[in-house]
Amino acid sequence: MDKIFINGGNPLKGEVTISGAKNAIVGILPATILAQDVCVIENVPNISDVSMMLRILHQLGARVRHIDETTVEIDSSTINSYVVTHDMTKHLRASYYFIGALLARFGRAKVAMPGGCNFGVRPIDQHIKGFEILGTEVNLKENAMIDADSNGLSGGLIYLDVVSVGATMNLMLAAVKAKGLTVIENAAKEPHIVDLANFLNSMGADVRGAGTDVIKIRGVEKLHGCTYSAIPDQIEAGTFMVAAAATKGEVLIKNVIPKHLESITNKLIQCGVEVEEYDDSLLIKGTCRPKKCNVKTMPHPGFPTDMQPQFTTLLAVAEGTSIVSEGVWDNRFQYVEQLARMGANITVNGKAATVEGVESLNGSPVKADDLRAGAAMLIAGLIAKGTTEIENIVYIDRGYDNVVGKLQALGADIRRVTDDDTPKVVESAG
Ligand code: EPZ
Repeated sequence: MDKIFINGGNPLKGEVTISGAKNAIVGILPATILAQDVCVIENVPNISDVSMMLRILHQLGARVRHIDETTVEIDSSTINSYVVTHDMTKHLRASYYFIGALLARFGRAKVAMPGGCNFGVRPIDQHIKGFEILGTEVNLKENAMIDADSNGLSGGLIYLDVVSVGATMNLMLAAVKAKGLTVIENAAKEPHIVDLANFLNSMGADVRGAGTDVIKIRGVEKLHGCTYSAIPDQIEAGTFMVAAAATKGEVLIKNVIPKHLESITNKLIQCGVEVEEYDDSLLIKGTCRPKKCNVKTMPHPGFPTDMQPQFTTLLAVAEGTSIVSEGVWDNRFQYVEQLARMGANITVNGKAATVEGVESLNGSPVKADDLRAGAAMLIAGLIAKGTTEIENIVYIDRGYDNVVGKLQALGADIRRVTDDDTPKVVESAG
């Protein structure tokens, strides 16, 4: 398996450009199915989750073509199947967006249960409840295949019992061509929800209120192709912000939407990090040892759960004791065991971690337990004394576009060692 080796201790310095947002693109790509036309998507990150979504589109019959490194053209007029098999869905959670998109296109979808990073139970009951309200009969075959069938979808009022990004996006996809009005209440408000709504509207949909907790969708008969550029990745940006601060570096983070990063910026400032905000960039200056601070993850606009492992790593070397509480997932502290190998002093009690800051970490062999756990290992390796060797980096590849190259350009002593004989796809992630 490929590995990443880091000789820690170099402060990151320079500029980095953030790629397109993974969690927006994984909704936008299935949404192209609704156009029955040609869509050109720009600012597409080169990550394995995107490759997998493009493979599924291709398998369904779409014509997929890379125009350049970050632009993809998808002609969905040739799609002739509503079945997505387990060999495709097992690789990533976001494969469940094909249910909403195929339902809207064909009134039918047969999609195998999605894979996904393992941080506790990940039910999809809210997705199913919503599809049923829109007039779909949903059958779960041996807990493996979701068979959703309808005689044409009709709008309805869907109140989500939990704020769910996936359910909100999936139901938006299903509802854009449903007859009449769909209202999603207690909707998620993440930037990727707004981006998906903007994309759907660019194709001729009528989606209003995305970014608030009530989204109203008036069904339209037909959508058309368009050219659309995805937003920059909030979590990739946050990861570089924390990496800059943790290494006491100075990094200009370009191609960001500062508003999306406010909760992260705010916590960094609380830790004593200097943050200068510009129109589409942020300058991070980590001038001294970070100070303790408490963090609780919450749905947007709260502090993102997808930044929790990276921020905990910063707090592991902060002055004083911090408490990190996880408010979204049941089990997202598995990576703490890896940090402990490097000398971190963190005690996990259920959904909270007490982080006693230590002076420094020591390089060690560690593994990425999931995507953001992998990002935490990168940051730990950058600050640690000596060499850190990270295994399971296929997880990092799922969500970080050329992370090794970007860190090298910032002065990190980091390299990827490739073992070409080893298969690179893992069973469950995303
Ligand atoms: C999305 O996952 C992201 N994945 C995750 O990003 C992210 O951690 C998560 O949202 C929260 O922000 C993608 O966008 C592909 P949810 P998702 O539905 O949609 C419960 C990353 O690292 N729930 O918002 O699967 C659920 O158990 C990742 O990029 C139900 O109870 O998350 C959880 O506690 C991995 N029933 C909470 O809601 C449901 O039907 C939020 O989950 C759905 C969810």
